[in-house]
Amino acid sequence: MDLSIVILAAGQGTRMVSSLPKVLHPLCGQPLINYSLRTAASLSERLPVIVVGHEAEEVRNVVGDKARFAMQEKQLGTGHALLAAESLLKEQRGMIMVIAADMPLLTLETLKTLAETQARNSGPLSMLTMHAEDARGFGRVIRGEDKKVFAIVEEAQATPEQLAVHELNVGAYCFDADWLWDGLKRIQLSSKGEYYLTDVVGIAISDGVGVQALQVSDADEAMGINTRVHLAEAEAILRSKINHAWMLAGVSMPDPLTTYIEPDVKIGKDTIIYPNTYLRKGAQVGEGCSIGPDTIIEGSIIGNHCTILSSVIDSGAILEDDVAMGPYCHLRSGAHLGRGVHLGNFGEVKNSHLAAGVKMGHFSYIGDATIGENVNIGAGTVTCNYDGERKNPTIIEDDVFIGSDTMLVAPVKIGKGAKTGAGAVVTHDVEPNTTVVGVPARRLRKTDQGD
Ligand code: UD1
Ligand code: CA
Repeated sequence: MDLSIVILAAGQGTRMVSSLPKVLHPLCGQPLINYSLRTAASLSERLPVIVVGHEAEEVRNVVGDKARFAMQEKQLGTGHALLAAESLLKEQRGMIMVIAADMPLLTLETLKTLAETQARNSGPLSMLTMHAEDARGFGRVIRGEDKKVFAIVEEAQATPEQLAVHELNVGAYCFDADWLWDGLKRIQLSSKGEYYLTDVVGIAISDGVGVQALQVSDADEAMGINTRVHLAEAEAILRSKINHAWMLAGVSMPDPLTTYIEPDVKIGKDTIIYPNTYLRKGAQVGEGCSIGPDTIIEGSIIGNHCTILSSVIDSGAILEDDVAMGPYCHLRSGAHLGRGVHLGNFGEVKNSHLAAGVKMGHFSYIGDATIGENVNIGAGTVTCNYDGERKNPTIIEDDVFIGSDTMLVAPVKIGKGAKTGAGAVVTHDVEPNTTVVGVPARRLRKTDQGD
């Protein structure tokens, strides 16, 4: 389809009462603007144009190369905002779709239908309308006796009779590019000092050309975010949609109302997600897992058949299959737990690889370590990885037994099959198959020589 998309995002969003631009407020964990950007990217291969103004730099920084930017220096209304995109798009033929950045629930299907409607329309524009009981804040769609749309009237300017109309302007339009820019320039300044984009409908009608109105059946889709109350309402709607889709894809959640899954997360079938659990920032969870309650997983990869109870996993962790952890564990960036690793309560792991079968049952800290297979880490073990200046590595080879409360003063290496006694403070490397005890730890015996 020969289509370019303009996203209006220059408004101040005064009603958010915020120093953050409205379109950067998070909805299900992602900035509002991401939703219209994602839809635009699915609709057209052309890079969308975002009209920015208020806090433009902040918006540009978040959007990056996912759009082109047009600057609206002064926010003089939606018609004026669209005109700011002219210099970027005036050579563009075909159709130009205009959506607002504060309408994250508009679906791809609806906008596709809008574009198809305009592709068949001999007139210069098609628009979305909807019916809703609570019309507050929306422009009213006025139809003539022939039932055809002939104007949109903004609430501030509507007569009592017009205010009683319940067909509302959604705020998404698709234009014939050859007509648009000239049409826009004919908009008059309103009594509120703004150029209303909605006035193009009246202009098209006065040109004697028809306007197509496509009705959206689900009013939720047309929800505009103007306040933080709207933001919370949209979040509830979106969360419910996301959770429904996952349940239909084979994921159980006993309480969807308290299960928070961001849009770009992946979850395998037969996984169960218990209440108060957040899956964020592209987290990927395998099949047959039990996650939560009270768990946060961000941008990490969880294998199949893992159990994670009341724990926090930051971005950048990897869990292979059959890992069990919690309650109250914290995995930080670079934590990599091999198959069948078991972490009990109060374990923290950062930038460390724990090979298959490692067991760490009780309150330990492992940082900057490489730990071999089937190592047992006793309660209270700490890798003392920081000497005040730099982070130092700890290496523990296969089949080592670390006694309770061992301090591993890095850099340090514990050889295969070695043991440390309870309370040992290990300041030097330990030979394989050797037992060390005490403070600082010294050799007690070498098991394979029997001394
Ligand atoms: C607009 C429509 C209204 C419709 C409603 C649907 C107009 C005049 N009115 O009203 O008919 O029912 O949306 O939600 O279009 N913006 C700019 N520059 C500006 C002003 C606004 O970029 O100078 C952007 C805003 O950032 C926002 C969008 O345009 O993304 C809509 O502006 P907003 O002020 O929210 O319009 P509404 O009052 O909601
Ligand atoms: Ca709005």
